[in-house]
Amino acid sequence: MPINWSVDLDTGIEVIDHQHRQIVDFINQLEVVNTTHDKAKLKEVVDACVDYTLSHFAFEESLQEEAGYKYCKPHKKVHELFTRKVAEYQQRVDLGEDVGGELHGMLARWLVNHIKRDDADYVAAVKANMVDIIKEKEEKQETKGWFSRFFK
Ligand SMILES: [Fe+2]
Ligand SMILES: [Fe+2]
Repeated sequence: MPINWSVDLDTGIEVIDHQHRQIVDFINQLEVVNTTHDKAKLKEVVDACVDYTLSHFAFEESLQEEAGYKYCKPHKKVHELFTRKVAEYQQRVDLGEDVGGELHGMLARWLVNHIKRDDADYVAAVKANMVDIIKEKEEKQETKGWFSRFFK
């Protein structure tokens, strides 16, 4: 069954929700490919899914670090453990093993859980930091505006 996006998967951070939706989309594609038993296509989807997920992790980790999120190190560790597990599957796919179904099940379970629990936990810290950054930018803009008016 494909994963249907539900509100409990929303973090409320637009850019993160967009990336999570993309990942869910890849997982759903994987489910479809598994029914065809096309090994080349399976490899293509798995590689694309893993690449995208790894850049999402890096992006998420940088947001957390910038925000001074207190669990950013354990969160990174969780990402790393998952990455290692997925890399093992990727090797098996490369060897032509029929692990598509197993991999799909693991990805779907892990990701939904991770978004709902671990990712949901950093949202408040990252959002607060984003508000500060936007405020800072607006203040700078205002000063710039004020100066330009003065020197016209
Ligand atoms: Fe995430
Ligand atoms: Fe995460």
